[in-house]
Amino acid sequence: MPHSTSREKPSNLTRLSPARVATSLFTSTFATRPTVAASAPGRVNLIGEHTDYNGGPVLPVALERRTAVAGRAAQRWAFISGTEGEAQAIDIDAPMRSAWTDYIVGVVRELRSLGAAPSGAELAFSTNLPLGAGLSSSAALTVATAKAVSLLAGKRLSPAALVEVAFRAEYHQVGVRCGRMDQTISVHAETGSALLFETSSGVLRLVPLPGRLWIVETGVSHRLTGGALNERRRECEEALAFCREWRPGLAHLAQLSPGDLPEIGRRLPPPLVPRVRHVVTETARTRSAADALAAGELSTLGRLLVEGHESLRADYQSTIPEADFIVASAVKHGAYGARLTGAGWGGAVVVLAPAEREARVVAEIGRDFEKQYQRLPVTWSTRASRGVRRETIPD
Ligand code: GLA
Repeated sequence: MPHSTSREKPSNLTRLSPARVATSLFTSTFATRPTVAASAPGRVNLIGEHTDYNGGPVLPVALERRTAVAGRAAQRWAFISGTEGEAQAIDIDAPMRSAWTDYIVGVVRELRSLGAAPSGAELAFSTNLPLGAGLSSSAALTVATAKAVSLLAGKRLSPAALVEVAFRAEYHQVGVRCGRMDQTISVHAETGSALLFETSSGVLRLVPLPGRLWIVETGVSHRLTGGALNERRRECEEALAFCREWRPGLAHLAQLSPGDLPEIGRRLPPPLVPRVRHVVTETARTRSAADALAAGELSTLGRLLVEGHESLRADYQSTIPEADFIVASAVKHGAYGARLTGAGWGGAVVVLAPAEREARVVAEIGRDFEKQYQRLPVTWSTRASRGVRRETIPD
């Protein structure tokens, strides 16, 4: 069988619903039943990379894989995840600890400032998302937590408020200078659609995505806090300041057009020029990609994905050799296109291939990769799934 080797075998972790696992973890840890459960998806970004914090469009898709939290109001704050043996009692006002619980603490602090948190809660978490794979496990965690904890306080936050709480938790509390793409798709996604999100206007447009997307994990983990993403963001802010000297009203880099690039080449310090070129060309590519997807022109969409990857490689310098290799292999074996998805510097590649041979294409990629790197990449597929939801507590 051509595709039996590299595809991930469904383990208990990926087969059981995270809500079910979180609920039983809660019950076995805290010796009582949870009163609330919620879950939220990770995302794969089809295209529109590093545009969300530059006022441009993004085109993400919610994954079928989710993070769930089950909880109950309590006198203290205590958290447990499936990967740890014991619940951790947490002081919400103590300094952050550079641990996964920082994201939860961030959400609780933000909810508290809205009067939407109880005075304490015990919470159990479970996920079937890979961590550090650029598939937004952090937004799945913050969005699911914001939903569950606000419900424990008896509040129903609007979708916009959920996005804002999750964004502020990551940006202001944890200190990752992210944009709002991940939280927005994790809240607003609808089954069977990608979401074109124009970040400067806030306009959302669902674009039907009936088929499957394939994920090929590079196996190289990225860590965002204080790292390369923050550095790129600083470079973009610096570039915007230079651009404003000749375009005083400019609000975002994504407002520039490809016709402005020669002038940018003359005015900006050389290292900043390719960063701006990526943002400007990616903005145009993302809108074209949404139109191509809406029109069912998958070859055009695939070509735009590959051009997007090349722009990340050459101009934004956020790819890694493993991802470049996977994209080249995907194209060689007949995919419509592929690109590194998410922040980069590790993570996963999204592959779009004709439905009738997609599994074969992905198996070939696995084989090429194994020859080159002496290990099989983890690969799996997903359909476009839906955003955050309250879960009924399983018996
Ligand atoms: C991370 C951030 C997002 C976005 C991407 C790059 O995932 O959380 O807001 O900036 O990187 O497109």
